[in-house]
Amino acid sequence: MSDTTLSLTDNRTGKSYTLPIEHGTIRAMDLRQIKVDEDDFGLMSYDPAYMNTASTKSQITFIDGGKGILRYRGYPIEQLAEKSTFLEVAYLLLFGELPDQNQLESWIQEITTHTFLHEKLKLLMQAFCHDAHPMGMFISSISALATFFPEARDVDDPEIRRKQILRVIAKVPTIAAFSYRHLRGLPYVYPDNDLSYTGNLLNMLFKMSEIKYQPNPTFERALDVLFILHADHEQNCSTSTMRAIGSSKADPYSALAGAAAALYGPLHGGANEAVLRMLNEIGSVENVPSYITRVKEGEFRLMGFGHRVYKNYDPRANIIKQTADQIFEVTGRNPLLDIALELERIALEDEYFVSRKLYPNVDFYSGIIYQAMGLPVEMYPVLFAIARAVGWLAQWQELLIDPEQRIARPRQIYLGTAMREFVSLQDR
Ligand code: ACO
Repeated sequence: MSDTTLSLTDNRTGKSYTLPIEHGTIRAMDLRQIKVDEDDFGLMSYDPAYMNTASTKSQITFIDGGKGILRYRGYPIEQLAEKSTFLEVAYLLLFGELPDQNQLESWIQEITTHTFLHEKLKLLMQAFCHDAHPMGMFISSISALATFFPEARDVDDPEIRRKQILRVIAKVPTIAAFSYRHLRGLPYVYPDNDLSYTGNLLNMLFKMSEIKYQPNPTFERALDVLFILHADHEQNCSTSTMRAIGSSKADPYSALAGAAAALYGPLHGGANEAVLRMLNEIGSVENVPSYITRVKEGEFRLMGFGHRVYKNYDPRANIIKQTADQIFEVTGRNPLLDIALELERIALEDEYFVSRKLYPNVDFYSGIIYQAMGLPVEMYPVLFAIARAVGWLAQWQELLIDPEQRIARPRQIYLGTAMREFVSLQDR
């Protein structure tokens, strides 16, 4: 018998079936032939949180959660974080290969020429309440970009797609920085295209009255590394949202706004904000054991811990810890780090966390770095979104050229009432 097929018997009918196995999967549609009679719809699989369902074939990111491996287009994340830049990684994720010197220079040049926003978008952002959450402003502003570039709706044109990709990568830092300046009640700072991608972001975040802002090179590189680590993570919640919206052929700005909204949740990219709030609530190292007890009693979750895919140490968390050390050499040690280290130490020895394979994830330490840079907690998911926009775009592009993709449309198991006769209010 071939080892590339699956034989199964339906005990309801006694009939046997042979289903092909490809890439370690069976096609859910192959189950449809399994019926009790001609009127039967056919067998479906039930997987409410996509725990064991591959929704696509992808060539972008590889994760082995058991071994703690993450690779972009085959390159280990550790090597990319050490030796490359965020824009180089963006090129790699989007086009499959690392750029040569000429390609990189023109890629940077192309992105740099799109960093400014239409003044009407700035006006729109200024209309938000003074204390609006920057992530709410970010999501709304990304969505509004669609109205400035109506040609973006032609998603089947590769040239038009490329143009929107450039625009998104260039403009997300500007939108992010404006949302921060808004929260602080400070004037918005326009892009400085002489600076690097992250140098310019620091400029737009922190420039005050100086004529020319000089980014701190340690901060500039730390942001670059954090963005590399956050750039893509295969079919996570926000990326699946990007693909689901993109599958209806909506324009990329609308799809990206949806993806950013999915990211905002505390179980996903909002976890970095939640971690900092948690560390502040714990307050001191002595309070860590009692906090862990409350987590184990099910009162709340330990934010920044656990992952659907990683059942081993998240390789990104390791790199972030090293980056934190470099930042603290400049800023002095963030006292919250001691609380985080103690939480990690206790959790990694505790049977509750060990048996459930719960390790620190990418969000456990990133907030501590952002705080040391002087950024408020509300900005952490926004910074995550700047980086992940690249992954969303790469996955969206892959979806649109995949001949197997159709509009995303899951099935359901209907458990409601059977058909009833409607009786109008007067007759009831
Ligand atoms: N703290 C305490 N217990 C946890 C945690 C946690 N952070 N995470 C999971 N568990 C427990 C669950 O209670 C469950 O225990 P049980 O089997 O006794 O019921 C078990 O571990 C499995 O948890 P699930 O919820 O089934 O795991 P799932 O894969 O669905 O969830 C998730 C993954 C959402 C990341 C989860 O671990 C979590 O909520 N973590 C905290 C939020 C967080 O840090 N999110 C960021 C993830 S990284 C990212 O998205 C960028």
